[in-house]
Amino acid sequence: MNSKVNDIKALFNEKLSSVSSSQQVEELRVEFLGKKGLVAELMSELKNIPNEEKKEFGRIINVLKQEIEQTVSEKRTAILEAEQQKIIDSAEQYDESLPYEIKTGSYHPITLVQRDLERIFTSMGFSIENYSEIVDDYHCFEALNIPKHHPARDMQDTYYLSTENQLLKTHTSAAQNAIMKKYGAPLRAIFPGRCFRNESTDACHENTFFQMEGIMIDKDISISNLIYFMKTMLSEVFQKDVTVRLRPGFFPFVEPGFELDIKCLNCGGEGCPSCKNSGWLELCPCGMIHPNVLSHGGIDPEEYTGFAFGLGLTRLAMMKYGVKDIRTFNSGSLKALSQFKNE
Ligand code: DAH
Repeated sequence: MNSKVNDIKALFNEKLSSVSSSQQVEELRVEFLGKKGLVAELMSELKNIPNEEKKEFGRIINVLKQEIEQTVSEKRTAILEAEQQKIIDSAEQYDESLPYEIKTGSYHPITLVQRDLERIFTSMGFSIENYSEIVDDYHCFEALNIPKHHPARDMQDTYYLSTENQLLKTHTSAAQNAIMKKYGAPLRAIFPGRCFRNESTDACHENTFFQMEGIMIDKDISISNLIYFMKTMLSEVFQKDVTVRLRPGFFPFVEPGFELDIKCLNCGGEGCPSCKNSGWLELCPCGMIHPNVLSHGGIDPEEYTGFAFGLGLTRLAMMKYGVKDIRTFNSGSLKALSQFKNE
């Protein structure tokens, strides 16, 4: 038995010295350690030897098996490393000095307009707030002085979630209440966000669009503050001095409420197709925050007043970049969307 063990060892070492690929390592392993390999054969011979010697030979065979296993595994690792090195060494070399084009993406036009506005408003002391797209009825309507069954709700049909009382916000005004409660007065904040309305789409209507709300609350805030901030912001956005006018407009959360128009930048007020010959463009609804809305937000309307505005970011982007169809923005078409650059 002993001499058989030695023969197997010698045979293994001899074969090992000529192994040079991972394939050959595997063949060697099967030959010695496989189910019908030489070690297994030796094991099966144990039954033929006297009982008192069985234990000792069993041990010797196990030691032999472990030695072979270890050697095979070390050989395999060494050969795999060598094979990989060979692949790396023979890999095609590339010329680092060859010119190549780096293709960078571009920002979405609405992101460009949003960032522009954020820069302008932060320079005027406004903070930028983030708010959820899913809100409840209270924040979207009731806190904004739009009670249940109020006709103003008809203009803002939206998508209701199956979770009770949750809906997709129809306007960024839905964040007013939470932001007032979070900071109290005095307060200057803008909050851009995605809004949703259950609408059929056409060139001017989308069910998903962006707005940017702004509020400023302090002692003695008046309509002249509102006009000043709106004028400054619009002149910055369009990089020209703009003429604005206010017309009365009804929104339950402001009193008085206005539609703010700017004199058409294309024709200077003469009348042209882009202003539908009126000389003015409707741009930003706004107004003085209704006392009920301040109270809902935990701010005393006897002590503080404030203005609010709801800029249509999507609309502004359409005007700034001359986009004729609102659906372009959600189209995902790179051909259309990658042409806008922030000058
Ligand atoms: N939330 C209104 C809408 O989407 C827009 C609006 C009007 C916002 C007047 C305001 C405001 O802050 O003062 O139709």
